[in-house]
Amino acid sequence: MNDWEQRYQAGETGWDRAACSPALAQWLENGLSPCRIMIPGCGRGYEVVELARRGFAVTAIDIAPSAIAHLQAALHAADVTAEIISGDLFDYKPDVPFDAIYEQTCLCAIRPNQRGAYEARLFEWLNPGGRLYALFMQTGAEGGPPFHCDLLAMRKLFDASHWQWSEHLPLFVPQRSGRFELGYQLIRQ
Ligand SMILES: C[S@@+](CC[C@H](N)C(=O)[O-])C[C@H]1O[C@@H](n2cnc3c(N)ncnc32)[C@H](O)[C@@H]1O
Repeated sequence: MNDWEQRYQAGETGWDRAACSPALAQWLENGLSPCRIMIPGCGRGYEVVELARRGFAVTAIDIAPSAIAHLQAALHAADVTAEIISGDLFDYKPDVPFDAIYEQTCLCAIRPNQRGAYEARLFEWLNPGGRLYALFMQTGAEGGPPFHCDLLAMRKLFDASHWQWSEHLPLFVPQRSGRFELGYQLIRQ
């Protein structure tokens, strides 16, 4: 059993809102419209169900089988469908690239030495001009997970050779833990 599955089974899921992130509603009001969208590290996937309900073609992946089982049941209960993959995102390669990616605190779950590989996957998965909706976790602390997503480090990771950062002010998204996320839209070059 992997570490993430253990966390779900032990109920150590402080990040789980049991509802959609308020960031999703903001982005839906401000231009995110039905398209082919990927959600890496989707967890229990409240956003997957909401986007599927709104007519998005959603693909979602998570490494924790019990989170995926929860999501499958929620999709069934809502009578909507999505492509759901139980596995490691580093092994995933889509047949057709996506128009958008919704990155909700998956990056902060990944070891910092894997961040370059993660950025490369997001870049490969998107069409040119595709949008990355990213929620960067702010902990201000050493260690993790969740690993702090320092904004200067994010600018360096998602650099101008691959990504254009939108000029919008970031979304401020508080968590129950007192930590917060900052939401940015990036456009794949
Ligand atoms: C902080 S949680 C966020 C979950 C969900 N996005 C949310 O906001 O509720 C990070 C998620 O990433 C998943 N994850 C971590 N490493 C992964 C990997 N290599 N491949 C796929 N999923 C992964 C974990 O199982 C966990 O569900």
